[in-house]
Amino acid sequence: MSADTQKQISGLAAIDHIRDGMKVGLGTGSTAAWFVKAIADEVKAGMKLTLVSTSNQTTHLAHSLGLEIRDINDVGKLDLCVDGADEIGEGLALIKGGGGALLREKLIWEMADRCIVIADAAKHVATLGQFALPIEVEPFAYKGTINRITDVLSEFDIAKMPILRKKSGEAFVTDGGNLIFDVACGAIHDPSGLASALKATTGVVDHGLFLDLADIALIGTDEGVKVFYP
Ligand code: A5P
Repeated sequence: MSADTQKQISGLAAIDHIRDGMKVGLGTGSTAAWFVKAIADEVKAGMKLTLVSTSNQTTHLAHSLGLEIRDINDVGKLDLCVDGADEIGEGLALIKGGGGALLREKLIWEMADRCIVIADAAKHVATLGQFALPIEVEPFAYKGTINRITDVLSEFDIAKMPILRKKSGEAFVTDGGNLIFDVACGAIHDPSGLASALKATTGVVDHGLFLDLADIALIGTDEGVKVFYP
């Protein structure tokens, strides 16, 4: 089974958790896109849902499928958020942000009673860190921020430079107008300590470590969808 088919079956499996009347956060990325398409089918079939989005990309997809996306500030707390991940480690600790939407994703995840992560089998790892950790940075005085991030990383024995993410040769800019620096950490032995230290660094808007946020993982494998809990 291809990775895309694994993503598709995990996205479709998340539909089993949707009930009429729910307020649902829509994630970002190729796996979340399968979920958004399945949600569009449910809405066409008559289900009533209040939907919010984690990115402009997902909003565009949702609109193209005829879905209405509401402002999170008008909706308030959500029943559920369904989103992809770049890595799923022990205790459902995640690395997210490969698509550059990590800040808005985290804002929406934090508003949801339950978060479901959907992914293909390759995302399930023993130790986080093979996927480069995205760090979202305020553009103003970013060079000073990068120096502070490098110092933080060295405290965690990570001797890697943050690399500015680019798209078509230009700096990638997030929906919120920030920069992303990716760090090829290697094994992250203390995700919780690193997450706290990065969050406390002036100029860091947020980072792609999603800890204690996912309630269920639905992972598409060649043997079907496997369910994991923290
Ligand atoms: C978007 O910023 C990311 O957090 C995505 O959820 C993550 O990169 C997974 O993407 P895919 O589902 O495309 O692999």
